[in-house]
Amino acid sequence: MCGIAGFFGHQVCEDILINFLEKLEYRGYDSSGIAVKNKNNINLVKGTYKINELKEVVKTKTTNSCGIAHTRWATHGKANKDNSHPHYSANKVWFAVHNGIIENYASLKNKLINCNIKFSSETDSEVIPQLLEYNNVKNIYEFIDTINMLKGAYAICAFNNFDNSLYLAKYKNPLYIAEFNNEFFIASDPICFNEITKNYYTLNDNEFCIVSDNKLCFYNNKHKKINKKQNLLNSKYLKCSKENYSTFMEKEINEIPKVLKNILTEYKKNNYFEHITSDFLDVKRVVIIGCGTAYHSGLIGAKYLESVLNIPISVELASEFLCGNPIINNTTSYIFVSQSGETADTINALNLVKNKCKNTIAITNVTYSTIAQNVDIVLPVFAGPEIAVASTKAYNAQLLVFYLFSEYLKNFKLETKFFNKINGEIKKINIATLYHFDKLTKIISNFDSLFILGKFKDYFTALEASLKIREITYSNCSALPCGELKHGTLALVSNKTTCIIISTNKLLHSKTISAINEIKARLGKIVLVTNSVESFKDCSLIDYLIKLPNVDENLIDLVSVIPFQLFALQLSLTKKINPDKPRNLAKSVTVE
Ligand code: F6R
Repeated sequence: MCGIAGFFGHQVCEDILINFLEKLEYRGYDSSGIAVKNKNNINLVKGTYKINELKEVVKTKTTNSCGIAHTRWATHGKANKDNSHPHYSANKVWFAVHNGIIENYASLKNKLINCNIKFSSETDSEVIPQLLEYNNVKNIYEFIDTINMLKGAYAICAFNNFDNSLYLAKYKNPLYIAEFNNEFFIASDPICFNEITKNYYTLNDNEFCIVSDNKLCFYNNKHKKINKKQNLLNSKYLKCSKENYSTFMEKEINEIPKVLKNILTEYKKNNYFEHITSDFLDVKRVVIIGCGTAYHSGLIGAKYLESVLNIPISVELASEFLCGNPIINNTTSYIFVSQSGETADTINALNLVKNKCKNTIAITNVTYSTIAQNVDIVLPVFAGPEIAVASTKAYNAQLLVFYLFSEYLKNFKLETKFFNKINGEIKKINIATLYHFDKLTKIISNFDSLFILGKFKDYFTALEASLKIREITYSNCSALPCGELKHGTLALVSNKTTCIIISTNKLLHSKTISAINEIKARLGKIVLVTNSVESFKDCSLIDYLIKLPNVDENLIDLVSVIPFQLFALQLSLTKKINPDKPRNLAKSVTVE
């Protein structure tokens, strides 16, 4: 969702900013814009441009200057030129780009309108430059005071027409700054800095920064200058090209075996669980929190942990957890699952429990993210940048980390022998053998009623599989536990229905066969996904079989989802949808 770029230096400002916007494209956007200072002029270009289009329409090449740029994912007001960023004040004194939501914008805007100030967009963000001009802000202290009037969430990068500076502010939305060769780079993701420098500053909540005359100055919200330490970007897993694949999503699915091996290598090298001692077990409850795909991995992760911990484990959707009055106490440990580490609902849930619970753990792909920075313990998943909006490899990676975690809790160590065994199992995953699209499309005729069924952990895989299909194929697809069919949904089953059933648990195959019979009695088509073909050899009711490799039963959940990830991808391409950027969705959901 929305991306911010800023630059202050001698190189061509437009080139740097557009290059950063390209790197931020993965977050999802529907318009873009750039504003660059050129002596006393400000060159502004914005509209519903893709970044390659923006590149074409930006004609200026400004050196020794500063500028700001933005990718917008519409929240307040539709995607059009006026609503895209940078926004500017009525007399074009202040220009700003903003990520987040200004919750009190309506009252601030009304106040400004009552003072005859003309607004040109429907956005909440425009109130920022308007307020800066109205308050006659002339320096960083007045900037801080004006930004302190905002409620909500923001990362802001602004400049004006009278001094040569960039003004930055941050609250609940990420903003990073890098310094190299007397130039300054600003972005919503430090991944932008990778080819420039590995050192960068993280602006924390309620911190401000002014970039001017070859220097950076940081302040807190009480005007006090602060010293900040730089962070180091771990570039080992930051490569993000499509390589020879036509989409990032296909590349990312094909990377799954490599990612799983990376996790084993990294966890063998460093004990990321070292701070999880027997103290962790001294709790009455564990709560796992996430959204979407991360929530689904939490559902399976809970089953892994439950098998070793003798305490209740609940899994909560972050957005739901925030409703009502959840019971939070120091006898509970919280695990936050998030690929990006920037999901607003998950961050809010973390903020709610922090300092009130026993401990907080993050399972995340982005170790510099807000969630990673605010928990007690970080369990990285080493999936590398996930660019496609639909999460794939990060999900499989989260499951493996959950599994390692549960194994670790048995004796508070993981032996080399164990790592070698898992490595052997991972070698059995051959993505090429899990593509079934062509054959499946012959079976599945009516996508209006596609169901994915499973029992126990397979039901959670079904939830994830159906989410993948919905989000990148725009087709409705529901998941339900096999046993629930007869409690209502069977009414929808007819000769136009296809049910894909996942069955990977030996103890539950007989129940799967009951569900198959129920569906077949209503003439529905059956696709079975299993690692245990033998158990179904007497069942003649299956229209198509997807055979999973025979991996260890604890690791099968990492594999059983892959045919669905591939199916969703191929269906999306057949429907001429770009699976990397499905409509209405953003990669990093930084608004509530
Ligand atoms: C679906 C998907 C989303 C994310 C969700 C949480 O493919 O990607 O459902 O899983 O928005 O995002 P993170 O994991 O970044 O917190």
